[in-house]
Amino acid sequence: MSVGIDDISFYSSSLCVPLTELAMRYGVDPDKYRIGLGQEEMAILAVDEDVVTMGASAAWPMLNDENRGNIGTLLFATETGIDQSKSAGVYVHRLLTLDSNCRVVELKQACYSATAAVQMACALVMRQPERSVLVIASDIARYGLGTLGEVTQGCGAVAMLIKSDPRLVEVCPESGCYSEDVMDFWRPNYMDTALVDGKYSTIVYLKALRQSWKHYQQAGGIAFPGFSRFCYHLPFAKMGEKAHRKLAVTCGESMSDALLTEQIGSGLIYNRKIGNSYSASLYIALLSMLENDTEDLSGWNIGLFSYGSGCVGEFFAVTVQPNYQAYSRRKAHVDQLESRQVLSYDEYAVLFGQHSPRIDGEHDFLKMTNGRFRLTGLHDHKRIYIETTVC
Ligand code: HMG
Repeated sequence: MSVGIDDISFYSSSLCVPLTELAMRYGVDPDKYRIGLGQEEMAILAVDEDVVTMGASAAWPMLNDENRGNIGTLLFATETGIDQSKSAGVYVHRLLTLDSNCRVVELKQACYSATAAVQMACALVMRQPERSVLVIASDIARYGLGTLGEVTQGCGAVAMLIKSDPRLVEVCPESGCYSEDVMDFWRPNYMDTALVDGKYSTIVYLKALRQSWKHYQQAGGIAFPGFSRFCYHLPFAKMGEKAHRKLAVTCGESMSDALLTEQIGSGLIYNRKIGNSYSASLYIALLSMLENDTEDLSGWNIGLFSYGSGCVGEFFAVTVQPNYQAYSRRKAHVDQLESRQVLSYDEYAVLFGQHSPRIDGEHDFLKMTNGRFRLTGLHDHKRIYIETTVC
């Protein structure tokens, strides 16, 4: 039986800031961000959005009366937790009007947890092929104003329906993993911005890639020439390029600029405009590839590398299904990115100070998002979410 991603959709907030604004403010050559990091814009969260509203907005377009009741499990992957106890997924379960017999749980391991969710979802579907699993990955990357990590911020959510006989991609059973206790990036409970040893984090990322690949090969995985495309976790687009060159060297393959663009370029398009969306980033890359590649990818293998600081890496493969293009949501995704309100540096900096997902007490948030769901306030330490009439 074949199991994999039957449908996929993303949502990234309704605001963004061009990185040229940050370059101007900090007196940095804009090419450092555009070429050096490969980024153009970063998505900025409105005050009335969070991982719940983004996750629900990502999943909403995929659901209908037919498939809603068939979802047996909702796995919510995030490292931007809003509560120490309650899963963010339980709020999403209500907003999406899922069946009360659906199980819900939140998963965490930095940017990696969505891949754990996908693998667990495939195992659940193998066990009960008539049921599907909704995987949602939703995150907000915040490092702080004036930090080196600032230009690699962003936010976004991706939702995937994992099913038997999937319409988009089959997830192949072989996978290679690598885990090691390292301090390259982390966020203690008392902080709302991440701590990071930036250069070290890129070194550990590449080490995890090499080790995961090695394990993947030992597990009987597809050899490098058997892949036509590759998608990587993208803290910034250039990291994907570095990773792909490193993997080619590891495999003794040569990698020209043209081949690099051919093999990973279509997967970088959305992330360049969103920035780091942590757990969602790899799957937004996959979606970007399925929606923007100029070749028909049917029957082709795509290699996926998932990385979460701390750290866990996993390399695995998906095989693109015939006629996958028929289920594309490209227009909606492109429209969403193009209709974002563009902020100046000053507007972004004010918003950065206002937003605090861990704030307590009595608060009402201004309506700012044009998304389907919004966080209206916090009362008695309870988060209040509603579906808006404006979509
Ligand atoms: P930095 O010190 O600002 O950058 O930190 P740099 O000085 O190293 O420059 C970056 C690149 O721009 C360099 O290229 C420069 O040469 C180039 P490279 O040598 O790397 O190929 N450059 C230029 N290019 C063209 N024209 C110019 C120019 N000037 C310079 N004029 C860093 C960059 C990414 C370290 C920083 O932004 C940071 O700390 N970011 C956060 C950490 C991060 O994203 N780490 C990635 C790996 S870890 C990971 O992916 C996990 C994560 O997603 C979290 C999770 O798992 O939850 C982060």
